[in-house]
This record gives sequence, structure tokens and C-alpha cells, in this order.
Amino acid sequence: MAKNRQHVAEFMDKVMVDGANMRKEDTYFSYKGVLYPTALCNPETLQALESFEARMDDVVLAGYPKTGTNWLDHILSSLESAATKYTEEEMKQRIAIEKELALVPRLEFGDPEMCKRLNKYPYRRILLTHLHPHALPTSIFKNKAKVLVLIRNPKDTAVSYFHFSNNLFFLPTSTWDQFFTDFMNGKVGCGSYFDYVAEWDKYVNDANIMAICYEELKEDLNLGLKKIAKFLGFSLTEEEIKSVAEKSSFKAMKEKSSETHGSFGDTFFRKGTVGDWKSLFSEAQNQEMDRRFEECLAGTKLGVKIKYDTYCKV
Ligand code: A3P
Repeated sequence: MAKNRQHVAEFMDKVMVDGANMRKEDTYFSYKGVLYPTALCNPETLQALESFEARMDDVVLAGYPKTGTNWLDHILSSLESAATKYTEEEMKQRIAIEKELALVPRLEFGDPEMCKRLNKYPYRRILLTHLHPHALPTSIFKNKAKVLVLIRNPKDTAVSYFHFSNNLFFLPTSTWDQFFTDFMNGKVGCGSYFDYVAEWDKYVNDANIMAICYEELKEDLNLGLKKIAKFLGFSLTEEEIKSVAEKSSFKAMKEKSSETHGSFGDTFFRKGTVGDWKSLFSEAQNQEMDRRFEECLAGTKLGVKIKYDTYCKV
């Protein structure tokens, strides 16, 4: 939540070490029909989340894995810090409390006691999650927390996810062809991309929910930041927006990645481009993805926002 993420880097490093000894058959567990990585999540935490009490001023960042959630996490923390104008003393105090509460980087990660510890956090909470809406605490919707839904085109998401899985000990390694099949069948961590986007589509017209695309941020980051700030009610000057944009560039974030994300750093900040899918998709895979998009998402509000023809057709 605050910018200093040493405790997050330590959490990531520990996951890496623990995950190195994991047996292949233990990589995932299934909870209510969706797969989750055992190194990061457990069923008790997912269950405990059902009674988690969201606050009205919580900001929830919801994104399917590999859609740029770490990027948006940094953006949201920076916008919130700039808007709230914490004193140096308050910043130090926030960091100390986050460390003391051992907050982890996603709502669904870590131990079941996390929910209770989060309740003790005295500042505005930025809650990141890969959970599908049906698996989120219902209090998020009931208490009208603001939700920013991050989406990315499915082809780049799949390619990013493939490289990510192959770089981490605790996820199964596979060939691209095998991964593509698993991705299309929802047999990857956090389940089906298509189900995820289709389910969020039902919420996007709600006043407390806003969708933003990875690609629109790549096209014009300043404009994207202004939209996010407006949605969250943050009042920022042009200069402040510009400064957050500079510090959120791929280059700036990659340079600091070992500090912010420990040994995950290089894996999280890989290329940061649009269109890398062209390096791996075969013609048959292109056609299969095009068909699936047409069946599941074309014509939906989020499907239109993804601009599939612009970003996913040759
Ligand atoms: P690539 O693998 O295509 O490079 P997540 O944070 O949800 O795991 O998503 C990771 C993806 O977001 C990676 O995509 C990563 O490079 C990209 N990313 C991270 N920071 C970024 C930034 N500042 N600008 C653009 N893309 C970024």
C-alpha cells in the first residue's frame, strides 16, 4: 500500500524458496471450480475472505494474472500518496504498520489471519486481487468500495502468462502449445480468462466500478492516470500526474524491481509491450482465439473496450 515494499519483496522471496521444493502434482489446488497456485494461496484463506469486511474508502484493483496488476498497483499507490499528501512521518508509520501486519500483495495470498490483520490497517487500503467477482467478499459490493477492473487483450495475456509460469519453480513448466491449450481451457492459476472478463462485464456499468485497459495506458499513460484519479476522487495537479507517469514507466519500474519485488522482479517486468503474441501464436492458435473471443466476449462492454481487432489481428 505504501511505496516501500520491502516486506512484499521478502514475502516473494520466501514463496520462491518454498516453491522450489514443490511436487508437480501439488502445484495447484481447486477451490469452487477455479485453480489456485498452492505456493501463494490456500483454501482456508479463500474461505476466510467470505466474511472480510470491506470499507467504503477501500480501493480494489481487480485484474486477471499478467494483465499489468503490478504496474497498476504502483500507479494506484503513487496516486493515492500524492493525493493524500502524507507527511514523511505518516509515510514511515504506514510502512512500519504494513510490515508489522505482514500484509501480502494480493487479497487471496497468504494465511487466513490476513483478513483480521487487514482490519487493523488504519489508512486507506488498496486491495489487489485476481479473484473472479463471485469469489470476492460480498462486502466489497455491498459497502460500495471503488473497484478498478484491469483488462488486457487475451493474446498478450496468454503469452505473458506462459513466460511467467516457465520462469517460476512453483508453477508447471510447459511448451507454448501445451500452455495455450491449458489457457484456453482455464487450466491455469485463477481459472479462465474468458469467464473472468465475462463475469466482470456484468458489473462495469455500476457507479463504483471502472474498467481500464493495459493497452490504453500504454497509448497514453497521462490520460489513463487522469481517468483513474477522477474515478477515485483524487485531486492532482498536471505536475503530480506527470511525475507519477514518469515513475511508472516500464523502464523506471524494471530498474527498481529487485528492490520492490525481490527475486520475482525480472519475471514480473519482462517486456511491457503490446503485440508480443505475434512471437508465439501459430495461425491455428490465432484462429482458435479469434473464435473463442467472438463466442464469449465480442459485443460485450468489456469485449468492445479490449479493441480486439486493433490489438489481436494481424
Ligand atoms: P509482459 O510479460 O508482456 O512483459 P502482472 O503484473 O499482472 O503480473 O502483469 C505483468 C505484465 O505487465 C508483464 O507483461 C510486465 O512486463 C507488464 N508490466 C509491468 N510493469 C509495466 C509497466 N510499467 N509498463 C508496461 N507494462 C508493464
